[in-house]
Amino acid sequence: MEHYPWLVFLHVLSVLIFTLGHGASAAVLLRLRAETDPVRLGALLDLSRWSLNIAGLGLLGVLITGIAAGVIGSWLGTGWFWASLALFLVVGGLMTPLGRGYLDQVRQGLGVATGNRKKDAVAAPVLAPGKLAVVLRSSRPLVISAVGVSGLAVLLWLMMFKPF
Ligand code: HEM
Repeated sequence: MEHYPWLVFLHVLSVLIFTLGHGASAAVLLRLRAETDPVRLGALLDLSRWSLNIAGLGLLGVLITGIAAGVIGSWLGTGWFWASLALFLVVGGLMTPLGRGYLDQVRQGLGVATGNRKKDAVAAPVLAPGKLAVVLRSSRPLVISAVGVSGLAVLLWLMMFKPF
């Protein structure tokens, strides 16, 4: 139990690393709507994809230190601990079809590599320029942001107030 505060320290540090890393994807997501130059769009999408490495590292740290703190801090019998773990996995899981799915649609529209794999690169845009503009102007970024930010807010509430 004497190491417990250090575990919480590492847990919060991991959350900070995750949010620092994932901030790049959040900023790109909201900035895409105002961008029309394919070269600048490609650079933004590359930055988001690359930053997922840092966000992923933070995410792994959050999960490992969170579960360890739950075991060592004897929180396994509480509802808030399991609700947090479930919410974390649900929001993380939703990000593939929502966040990655949306940015991959734009990547395909530009004819650049999707996801993390350069080998997925396609030679030519698969969406007509008009269709790409429709994807860029869609409300999807707002939905993705709402899901992600609400998830973070509810997680913070569960951690701080331990309501059940
Ligand atoms: C609890 C909060 C969050 C978690 C656990 C989370 C987790 C993830 C994960 C695991 C991925 C990678 C999905 C994949 O590669 O298949 C991802 C991607 C993404 N997330 Fe989040 N996320 C969160 C919050 C947010 C927020 C608040 C935003 C925006 C405001 C956001 C925007 C995105 C975007 C745009 C991508 C796609 C990045 C790309 O393909 O380059 N996320 N997220």
